[in-house]
Amino acid sequence: MLVFKMRIIFYTGKGGTGKSVISCATGVKAAEQGKKVLVISTDPAHTLSDIFEKRVFDKPTEIIPNLWALQVDPIREVREKYGVIQDYVASIFQSRGLDEALAYEIASLPNMTPFISLLKIYDLVNEGFDALILDTVPSGEALKNLYLPMLLTDISKKFLKTFGFFLGALVKAVSPAVKVPAPSKEVIDADLALIDRLEVVRDLLTNVKITSLRLIANPDFFSIENLRRTYMVANLYNVNVDLAIINKVIPEEVSDPFFSEWKEKQAEYLVEAEKAFYPLPVRKVPLFKSELKGINLLKKLADYVFQDDDPLKVFYEGKPLRVDISEDGLQATLIVKTPFAKKEALEVERFGDELMVKVDTNIGEVRNFIPLPAVLYSMKLEKAKLIGDELHITFVKR
Ligand SMILES: Nc1ncnc2c1ncn2[C@@H]1O[C@H](COP(=O)(O)OP(=O)(O)O)[C@@H](O)[C@H]1O
Ligand SMILES: [Mg+2]
Repeated sequence: MLVFKMRIIFYTGKGGTGKSVISCATGVKAAEQGKKVLVISTDPAHTLSDIFEKRVFDKPTEIIPNLWALQVDPIREVREKYGVIQDYVASIFQSRGLDEALAYEIASLPNMTPFISLLKIYDLVNEGFDALILDTVPSGEALKNLYLPMLLTDISKKFLKTFGFFLGALVKAVSPAVKVPAPSKEVIDADLALIDRLEVVRDLLTNVKITSLRLIANPDFFSIENLRRTYMVANLYNVNVDLAIINKVIPEEVSDPFFSEWKEKQAEYLVEAEKAFYPLPVRKVPLFKSELKGINLLKKLADYVFQDDDPLKVFYEGKPLRVDISEDGLQATLIVKTPFAKKEALEVERFGDELMVKVDTNIGEVRNFIPLPAVLYSMKLEKAKLIGDELHITFVKR
């Protein structure tokens, strides 16, 4: 099947870390290697046009041979594809006495916009590209995008069929005593088509051969911190994370004393990143002398990120973190791959929704912080045991 030959690569990380330029660089390098690729941006306005120095439209626009780009316009996308649903939702608000302008404002489906780049995948997956590369909206939101379709499987489809997807939440919100105009067949059909699309997209995103999520941080506290939870949650949801990129590292040759403290700190954060994203390969990319625009600089950037590798390959495949829950639900084990640990000394302590893990290693004592999956919040930390390079941490119901 055509679909299984293709790759979908998402970049995630805090704003400004380099998602858009690295997406474009990935596209440039893959195109040079003869792959037909499409870079998709959901950033506002003309990010891609600025980076490629060429006007990019909201349909695939050729940049160089084999390299295409598309700038998603979420508002237009919602209007064109899901306008019927929007009209209906607005009509409900109007029936509650809101004026039309306000009704449409509220009905602009805030829960819809985050889906748009995902739904776009559905449209583009059979357009003959070898890869779709997406620079997602900044992290938290991006992850919701990935996961909401997956959550759908847990909700009874019957319920959705009765009330519709978006309508379901709305019907619950509006008091039952209020008469809501019945959705037309057209509206229900649009809603159901949307669910089907989301399911197809979810299947693509949880297929490790097809989809990779890549983490981009800078060597600073917040951007690494921000990705710890992303990494953990992606694991729980079966989205394969295959690479971590630490971008904007001050180059060795910078000797101005002004930057010496920065460089020292960055070296520490690089170690921190290796621990936080273990066992992913971590690629370090220097800070360039200028911002990154134009094909030539993107090529240079791609060489730092990928060296001689195929930028579309799956760099890592596995589940570095998982949760096993006992049948009676009274006990759960968090299993995490831990770098360089020796069996002798091991200390696990809980701080709120994080675990601090201290292990003795060949290079001295290493501490790492692991965000706790939500299922463990209400449980009590009981014991920890090292099995191979995996740390098994047992929790029990309080
Ligand atoms: N390694 C780098 N060296 C110098 N400038 C960079 C580097 N990586 C990214 N930039 C610049 O940083 C800014 C933010 O990058 P961008 O890709 O737009 O981040 P994001 O999409 O994550 O918000 C841009 O001006 C970009 O040119
Ligand atoms: Mg961006």
